[in-house]
Amino acid sequence: MDTPPPLQGHTLAGYLATQAKADASLRALVLALAATCGEISALVARGALGDVLGSAGAENVQGEVQKKLDVISNDMLVACAEQSGQVAAVGSEELEDVIVFPGGDRGRHLLLFDPLDGSSNIDVNVSIGTIFSVLPAPTGRAATAQDFLQGGRSQQAAGYTLYGPQTVLVLTLGEGVAGFTLDPRDGAWTLTHPDLRIPRDTREFAINMSNQRHWAAPVRRYIDDALAGRTGPRGKDFNMRWVAAMVADVHRILSRGGVFLYPWDQREPDRPGKLRLMYEANPLGWVVEQAGGAASDGRQPILDIAPTSLHQRVSVVLGSAEEVERVVAHHHEAAA
Ligand code: F6P
Repeated sequence: MDTPPPLQGHTLAGYLATQAKADASLRALVLALAATCGEISALVARGALGDVLGSAGAENVQGEVQKKLDVISNDMLVACAEQSGQVAAVGSEELEDVIVFPGGDRGRHLLLFDPLDGSSNIDVNVSIGTIFSVLPAPTGRAATAQDFLQGGRSQQAAGYTLYGPQTVLVLTLGEGVAGFTLDPRDGAWTLTHPDLRIPRDTREFAINMSNQRHWAAPVRRYIDDALAGRTGPRGKDFNMRWVAAMVADVHRILSRGGVFLYPWDQREPDRPGKLRLMYEANPLGWVVEQAGGAASDGRQPILDIAPTSLHQRVSVVLGSAEEVERVVAHHHEAAA
């Protein structure tokens, strides 16, 4: 029988204590976030019994209809950040502007989150998640919206909680990626996946195929080659999956490899993509890189993009490094 890696079975607090890159303030913040995500998980699981399904009757800054759970989980995370005492200011996919907490010049971190990713899955009982990204706050003065515009490589912690058949928390502090499973009986997080690694190679892609006719040529070429299967240029058959919640697709890729694409498309040519750089692409891109995969906008690593606005959108290709490199090569060839 294989010997389990030494940390397996640790509590989240026990794991954090072993992480050299996490100081006391970051550890406290991650624990607070995990506790709140545990509470969100309990609400998600109650569904109609908790009167949390359906629309909140408003639109968010992205022009999307907000679900009740979007609003509830957003408010819970804002409260969590403020009460933790570790956060100077928060930015949320659901809020137009950042919130700077009173006395926020004392918090060491800026927190960004997508409170409920994959909202269209909420009312149909399919997986959804929470994504978070922690950045350093300025010292000696109050934080401003401008302070959030830091590249993905400045992140101090990032990860997600996936509310699926099990609730899992996947976390990076810049030294690999660890996964924890929530015990709904007592709210405890146990380290169940000490070292998540993405294989370089895969035969599985995730993309919303209904947009095929709108894609740019390099993406069409990549998917056409995969669809051609064994007798095509790739010489192998591919499988396709699409959960329509990025956290769930990324979690599958962390578990068994694969590539995820949400590319630019010509319906809205001025919009770089659908997904948000600060709330989705940066945190998940860092998780994927830390697990040995790659994350790109088709031309450059996601984490090298210098953000220009809080709600900035971006084209995303991430997952098994060999496939991401192939998509990037197609883009470079098309531009040459
Ligand atoms: O936040 C955007 C999101 O819900 C992602 O989680 C998901 O990958 C994508 O949108 C699904 O988009 P579509 O509805 O176009 O398939």
